[in-house]
Amino acid sequence: MKIVNNSKPKNQDLQAIMQIIKTRRSVFPQVFTDQPIERNDLEAILEASNWAPTHKLTQPWRFVVIQGPAKMKLGNLLIQYHEEQTLDYQNLEKKKKKILTNTSKAGAIIAICIYRDEAKRVEEWEELAATACAVQNLWLAMTALGLGGYWSTPAAKSSLKGFLGLTEHEKCLGLFYLGHHNQPDQLANRTPGRKR
Ligand SMILES: Cc1cc2nc3c(=O)[nH]c(=O)nc-3n(C[C@H](O)[C@H](O)[C@H](O)COP(=O)(O)O)c2cc1C
Repeated sequence: MKIVNNSKPKNQDLQAIMQIIKTRRSVFPQVFTDQPIERNDLEAILEASNWAPTHKLTQPWRFVVIQGPAKMKLGNLLIQYHEEQTLDYQNLEKKKKKILTNTSKAGAIIAICIYRDEAKRVEEWEELAATACAVQNLWLAMTALGLGGYWSTPAAKSSLKGFLGLTEHEKCLGLFYLGHHNQPDQLANRTPGRKR
């Protein structure tokens, strides 16, 4: 079915979307409040992510939502990874503290995963690009709902396959920590696009 909508985007729509684009920020878990994330809000941001563009409509993103006691289990796995990998014990204590803050303060953690279809119908970079578009949609929808968060890409993500229940065709691209916060809107700092 083709949906025809004759109304053209108005300047006011552009202003509203630019406001959300410019106020989307990385908000870190130490400033998250205890306010739980409503299930409706989680569903709304996942719905937004699902409208990202994809070549051949592969929709390669796979999001795993982690809440409740599973956050602690994730934290323990991340700590275990660092314990096994490091000889720098001073740094390890800092890492552990950060992991425990992130996992305990987040209202939800979304594992950003990607599915590579066996036929490899499109190039891998296209699937990665599409997944990043999906994350941006999710992040903008979160901003509109007053939620904050950030995309964390720790080396330990490769150790989470079993915990996340990923198949051999799936891989984790990071963890998105999200929560409510009281930070004032802050415009991001960007240089203008370069002309060639
Ligand atoms: C693919 C990707 C991976 C990122 N990984 C990390 C990370 O591991 N740790 C971190 O502190 N921030 C990470 N970030 C957040 C960036 O540091 C942040 O987006 C950037 O500083 C710009 O700030 P803003 O999001 O407030 O505009 C990541 C962002 C992207 C897009």
